[in-house]
Amino acid sequence: MFSVHNLNKSFPTPQGKLEVLKDVNLEVFQGDFIAIIGESGSGKSTLLQILGTLDQADSGEILLDDIKIQNLHEKKLAKLRSQHIGFIYQSHHLIPELTALENIILPLLIQGKSKLYAQQQAETLLKQLGLFNRAQHTPAHLSGGEAQRVAVARAVITKPKLILADEPTGNLDETTASTVFSMMRDLCKSQNVAVIMVTHSQSFANACDKVYALKQHTLSEPPF
Ligand SMILES: Nc1ncnc2c1ncn2[C@@H]1O[C@H](COP(=O)(O)OP(=O)(O)O)[C@@H](O)[C@H]1O
Ligand SMILES: [Mg+2]
Repeated sequence: MFSVHNLNKSFPTPQGKLEVLKDVNLEVFQGDFIAIIGESGSGKSTLLQILGTLDQADSGEILLDDIKIQNLHEKKLAKLRSQHIGFIYQSHHLIPELTALENIILPLLIQGKSKLYAQQQAETLLKQLGLFNRAQHTPAHLSGGEAQRVAVARAVITKPKLILADEPTGNLDETTASTVFSMMRDLCKSQNVAVIMVTHSQSFANACDKVYALKQHTLSEPPF
C-alpha cells in the first residue's frame, strides 16, 4: 500500500552536508501498526515529514497505492495529504478557539463534506474515545490525555490510509500515555488504518505489529 525505496536525505549546514537518512526502505500494508524507535537526532521526525509529503527527500521513491508521490505538484500533494494521510504530533496542535468537536470536524469541512455528516462522524469517534462529554470543551479545558485523544479523532475522521504519529504520547505521564496509545491502536485497527508511530517507549513498540530502529541513518529490523 505504501512503500519507500532507497530514500536519502541530507541538510546543508555551515559545516557541510549533514547526512540524516541513507538508503531507507520500508513497506507498509493496510492496517499495519508500525513503531519506529531511535535516539534523539537520529532522523525520525525528518523521515515522518518526508513520508507525509511535508518535506522532500534528496533521492529515492515513495509510492502510495502505486502513485509516485515525489512526482506530484504541491496542489495534488495537498489533496493527497488531506484525503489519505493523518498526522498526530507530540503536542496536540488543536486550534485553541475551537471546541473539541469543531477541531475534529475541521478536516472533513475542508474536504467539502456537510456539517451534519461531519458532526455525526465526530460524535461516533468521541464516544469511541470516551470523550463524548468533552465535545464542547476548548483545548484549554481538556487534560493532556483528552487533548491527545481529540487529536487522534481529528487524524482518523477522514478515514486516511496512513497515520503518521511523531511521539504522540511523549508529553503524557505513563498511565495516560498507555490509555491514549491503546485507544489509538484499537481505533486504527478497527478502521484498518496503517500507522507509523515514532516512540521512545519500548513497551508500546512491543505492542505494535512491527518495530524498526533508525540507526546509523537507516531503518533496521530486530534484533537491534
Ligand atoms: N531543517 C533542518 N536543517 C538542518 N538540520 C536539520 C533540519 N531538520 C533536522 N535537522 C537535523 O537532522 C537530524 C535529525 O533530526 P530529527 O529528524 O528531528 O531527529 P529525531 O526526530 O530522531 O530526534 C538532527 O541532527 C537535526 O539537527
Ligand atoms: Mg523528533
